[in-house]
Amino acid sequence: MLVLQLVVVLILSTWATPFTITTQLEEVKHGEDCLDGPSASYEGTRSYTSTGLTCQRWNVMTPHKPSRVPEDGGHHNYCRKPDLDSAGLWCYTTNSSVRWQYCNVSKCQNDCLTGNSTLYRGKLSKTYSDKICQRWDVRIPHIPNLIPTDGGHHNYCRNPDNDPRGLWCYTTDPATRWGYCFLPKCN
Ligand SMILES: *[C@@H]1O[C@H](CO)[C@@H](O)[C@H](O)[C@H]1NC(C)=O
Ligand SMILES: *[C@@H]1O[C@H](CO)[C@@H](O)[C@H](O)[C@H]1NC(C)=O
Ligand SMILES: *[C@@H]1O[C@H](CO)[C@@H](O)[C@H](O)[C@H]1NC(C)=O
Repeated sequence: MLVLQLVVVLILSTWATPFTITTQLEEVKHGEDCLDGPSASYEGTRSYTSTGLTCQRWNVMTPHKPSRVPEDGGHHNYCRKPDLDSAGLWCYTTNSSVRWQYCNVSKCQNDCLTGNSTLYRGKLSKTYSDKICQRWDVRIPHIPNLIPTDGGHHNYCRNPDNDPRGLWCYTTDPATRWGYCFLPKCN
């Protein structure tokens, strides 16, 4: 029995890894193409302006001689806001006739609940207690008895049974069959 448990744990630990990695990758990607907080804190890699011009590296002098440089030294050409007076992210451009231009990085879609949680189609995939959700269409470690109408080819929090307490998911933790997910209401 002990041997069997050990084998199960081994299988589960190798099986769970891809999900952990996917979640991390999604978080990184998220930061690159949208703005999560104030512009000054943007650390993404957008490198073209609102009209599509390529940004100039901050630490080179051509075609434009920068008068502002980000604190990290600017060994890159990513949109930044290294000043107090601009209205948002910008960069010097590689077009010699356009010294600088704003970048169009949009705000991240704040994940929030607009109303009835049964209608939620977002990508939250963690429970309130920080457990990673299990895909709805797999049967390890838990055998689902409820599956979202879309077939559940993902591990996002859902509310397939109209639970009055809202979103939930099965978890990848063998010891925790399922858990509620926390998502703030949109204002
Ligand atoms: C910048 O934003 C405007 C308005 O949202 C949009 O029409 C335009 O295509 C965007 N430019 C780029 C380069 O994405
Ligand atoms: C540089 O910018 C000007 C003004 O927007 C534009 O007319 C010109 O085509 C651009 N040149 C290049 C090489 O993109
Ligand atoms: C949420 O939507 C479901 C399905 O449309 C419906 O059955 C349920 O009554 C709704 N719940 C609330 C609290 O409105």
